[in-house]
Amino acid sequence: MRILVTGGQGQLGSSLQRALAAHDVVALGHADLDVANSRSVDDAVARYEPSLVIHAAALTDTGRCEREPAVARAINGIGAENIAKACRRVGARLIAISTNEVFDGEKTSPYLESDATGPLNAYAISKLDGEWLAAAACPDTLVVRVAWLYGSGGNNFVEKVKVAAASGRPLSFVTNEVATPTSTEDLAVAFGQLIERKAPAGIYHLTNAGEASRYDWAVEILRLAGLADVTIEPVTAAELAARGYEGPRKPAYSVLANTRAAALGARLRPWREALAAYIENARIATDV
Ligand SMILES: NC(=O)c1ccc[n+]([C@@H]2O[C@H](COP(=O)([O-])OP(=O)(O)OC[C@H]3O[C@@H](n4cnc5c(N)ncnc54)[C@H](OP(=O)(O)O)[C@@H]3O)[C@@H](O)[C@H]2O)c1
Repeated sequence: MRILVTGGQGQLGSSLQRALAAHDVVALGHADLDVANSRSVDDAVARYEPSLVIHAAALTDTGRCEREPAVARAINGIGAENIAKACRRVGARLIAISTNEVFDGEKTSPYLESDATGPLNAYAISKLDGEWLAAAACPDTLVVRVAWLYGSGGNNFVEKVKVAAASGRPLSFVTNEVATPTSTEDLAVAFGQLIERKAPAGIYHLTNAGEASRYDWAVEILRLAGLADVTIEPVTAAELAARGYEGPRKPAYSVLANTRAAALGARLRPWREALAAYIENARIATDV
């Protein structure tokens, strides 16, 4: 099957190329395909005639989304619509990636695919726009919400924590932002399963299993990286704000319940196991 991947040089895009290697994968980076430009999208889709598009491109810098919401909407909202319209034109299926941040975080148990959304920040608003616009423009769309991604080559939370620990600066991470750290390698394999099993259109939640706060996640990163002697101060988001930290509002609890993909046999291992594999692979790569 010819599969076109947008955001092909991002964390998830790179993992998808490896996991779907049995297919004819065309992964286009930002320089080759600008999703915010409908002409660029139409040209790429007409040229490669994919049967499936996995739309992994996004403006993921949440701070920039907050400062420039119109740019966020152009890329994450209209960009998804551009892709969906092109898919419909050539009869391709679409998998559009979205985020745990579409929820307001008021729940205390995992969010179901059918739960009401309530985004708190500009990034999340633009991603939710993308969900709606994509599904409206292309009926054969799977919206797959994922959370807290890390994958090799990415400037992700795992790498940031390791760098911060090495700097010797005092570290503080919040205890009241809870979701699930998720390996893009594991996620990409699960995407392969959804594709093979011809998952019907609609919303899916896919993450590694379990839940963690940012603080829990940082502690586990340092333990696995052999840096357990580095101290991390547990704080709340309100305490950080009182110290002058300015960042987008985040949902306090946005764990995603995977019910629909699991019914098709696609479920991911516990997040600690996936994180251990990632950190071990990074260690081997550094040693070589
Ligand atoms: N990272 C997370 O924790 C997280 C959590 C929940 C959901 N998600 C979603 O998961 C998907 C994959 O995320 P990721 O972590 O793989 O992101 P990533 O590593 O930031 O990759 C996104 C890619 O999209 C590209 N891009 C940005 N603007 C573009 C445009 N206008 N046209 C084409 N490409 C563009 C970026 O290229 P440049 O850098 O060159 O601009 C980058 O290579 C995204 O939809 C994201 O919203 C991510």
